[in-house]
Formats: sequence, structure tokens, C-alpha cells
Amino acid sequence: MQPIETERLRLRPYRPDDLDALYAIQSRPDVSRFIYWGARDRAAVQASLDQKIAATRLTAPGDSLTYAVDLRATGALIGDVILIWTSAEHHQGEIGFLFHPDQHGRGYATEAARPLLRLGFEELGLHRIVGRLDGRNAASARVLEKLGMRREAHLVENEWVKGEWTDEVIYALLARDWDAG
Ligand SMILES: CC(C)(COP(=O)(O)OP(=O)(O)OC[C@H]1O[C@@H](n2cnc3c(N)ncnc32)[C@H](O)[C@@H]1OP(=O)(O)O)[C@@H](O)C(=O)NCCC(=O)NCCS
Repeated sequence: MQPIETERLRLRPYRPDDLDALYAIQSRPDVSRFIYWGARDRAAVQASLDQKIAATRLTAPGDSLTYAVDLRATGALIGDVILIWTSAEHHQGEIGFLFHPDQHGRGYATEAARPLLRLGFEELGLHRIVGRLDGRNAASARVLEKLGMRREAHLVENEWVKGEWTDEVIYALLARDWDAG
């Protein structure tokens, strides 16, 4: 897994010394508002970090690549992006992203996710890549739209998450619609 540089960001594998920065992100209730897990304590963040450090190779469906995202200007860890290889038979993948709230609204999630689409389509030969989100997660939907993905489905109360029924929205992009430019 090679580091990837974009205009303002550096995507790289996670390291053991990322624990404090990851804790600063994952312990915040506002970060996990629309995702499956809740605010994490240090032990849960350590377990998450261990998983992320291990997620560096796509050898079988279900595997994922997780990139820590640093600001190139300061070297600070501000979030992460993930590419999951969901199906070999159907050549499908999924992307996800999560950033520190102090850094929201600056285009970082969009900038960091774009190279993962390129990796998925151009290097892994995926046919379709999806993004899935809680129907209330407008910022996430907007990122997927900015990436050129199509809103394909809105599933009403199809999941029970943290004590409530939630809607799931699915965005997708096909390889032939991927504009590498
Ligand atoms: C989703 C998330 C990664 C977006 O990160 P980001 O770096 O702020 O994303 P960007 O700056 O690239 O784009 C965000 C877009 O959403 C818009 N937005 C933000 N909050 C919004 C809201 N409540 N309603 C509508 N649009 C909103 C921003 O204006 C921006 O769009 P614009 O560029 O057209 O102005 C970030 O909000 C986050 O980490 N959330 C917590 C974790 C999470 O929910 N991850 C996604 C799981 S599916």
C-alpha cells in the first residue's frame, strides 16, 4: 500500500503512534452520529486502530484498504478513507470516509476519496463502487454527489441502529461513468 498525495493531503497506512489523533476523532459523539458505532473509549479506539493497521492488502473479497489522511501542510492526522472490495464475482467495491469535525467543510473528504475511486476502477478493475449512508447524513451524501456518484436507492427504515430505525441511502458509480480527468 503506497502513500498517495493529493493537492493538500497525504494518504498513508495507519501507524501505532496514531492512537491519540484517532482517539481525538473517534471519541466525539458528533462524529458517530450517523454511523453504526457510538463514541469510543481508548480501548475501542485501540482495537479500531489495530484493524486499520492490518487493512493494507486486498487479497480476498471483504478485505479493505484504510488510509490515514494527513494534512500535508502540518502533518496532522485529520481523518481516514476506506476502500472495501465487496465482491470478486460482481467486481464491486465500496468507499467510506470520516474526518475530524474541526476540518469539515473544506473539501477534504472529497479530495481524499477521489484517488480511492481511481484505485478501485483503474487498478482493481472494479465495475461499480458504492457509498452507503444514513439518510440524514447530508454531508456524506453531498461528498458522494461531488464525486459524481448517482443516488440509486433510499431504503426506508431497513436498519436498526443504536436504538432506532434508520433509512439507508445508496450512491453508486460505474467504471464507464468514471471521469478520471
Ligand atoms: C461526511 C464527512 C466525511 C464529510 O467530510 P468533509 O471533509 O466535510 O466533506 P467535504 O468538505 O468534501 O464536503 C462536504 C459537503 O457537505 C456539505 N454539508 C455539510 N453539512 C451539510 C448539511 N448538514 N446539509 C447539507 N450539506 C452539508 C458541505 O457544504 C459540503 O458541500 P459543498 O462543497 O457543496 O459546500 C464528514 O462530515 C464526517 O466525517 N462526518 C462524520 C463521519 C461520517 O458520517 N462519515 C460518513 C459515513 S457514511
